[in-house]
Amino acid sequence: MVPTTTVLFAALAAVVSAAPPCPPPVQYTLPSIGGGAPDLVPPASNLAVKKIAVGHGIQNYTCGATTDNSVATGAVAVLYDVTSFYPRTRRTGIRQDLWDSLTSKLLWDTPLPLNKLPGSEYGADPNKPFPSPVADLKLRGVPAAKFLGYHFFDSNSIPLFDLSSAGLRAAVGKVDSKTAPGNADKGILTTGAVAWLKLDDNGEGVSQGVTSVFRVITAGGSAQSCSVAGAGVQSVPYAAFYWFYG
Ligand SMILES: *[C@@H]1O[C@H](CO)[C@@H](O)[C@H](O)[C@H]1NC(C)=O
Repeated sequence: MVPTTTVLFAALAAVVSAAPPCPPPVQYTLPSIGGGAPDLVPPASNLAVKKIAVGHGIQNYTCGATTDNSVATGAVAVLYDVTSFYPRTRRTGIRQDLWDSLTSKLLWDTPLPLNKLPGSEYGADPNKPFPSPVADLKLRGVPAAKFLGYHFFDSNSIPLFDLSSAGLRAAVGKVDSKTAPGNADKGILTTGAVAWLKLDDNGEGVSQGVTSVFRVITAGGSAQSCSVAGAGVQSVPYAAFYWFYG
């Protein structure tokens, strides 16, 4: 007599072999700064990539009337989903060099996806910075990237990422920062690329499904010197990759 377990196993094996082969999970690796420079502190080993976005927007700074150094005061950016374009993804992955150039292309080839502040070159309307709806992103030679969410600072200057369309949210604080590589895109005002960052959930219970956010392959966004910018707020266009881990 054949034991029932054997019959069960045989039936299971038949079901498993009939199912289409499951593609192996994509192995995501954060980009490296290169040139022998130390990289950002890596994500905790129990975390997985939830989304990879490119963000396009402005970095804000203020200059006092008598100070030489500007102070960073926040950022406003629209995020687009490029997860499926990651080069090691079967079928939908794009070439590595194209992937690496996405933030530069975004910065130079696309108008800022923000409602303008009248009378300011790159400023956004403080009352309603984001257009609604936000159009999907179309870059030359790249499939259309879907709108994913918003990056902004709340009234307490906490950086937030609102990826409601993916059920993700992050309220974060900076835990590591590394100067962008020497060959990074210096941006539209040739002020240089903002630093690469590791941002962690700030523990306030606001985040959903996100523990760490990495800002990498930055393009533009650094401040003009106050002698050039003058006193007040300056908004500098930038683009960056944001990797969301949870
Ligand atoms: C950044 O500056 C713009 C004006 O260009 C303003 O609308 C926005 O509220 C500012 N955001 C932050 C976080 O500083």
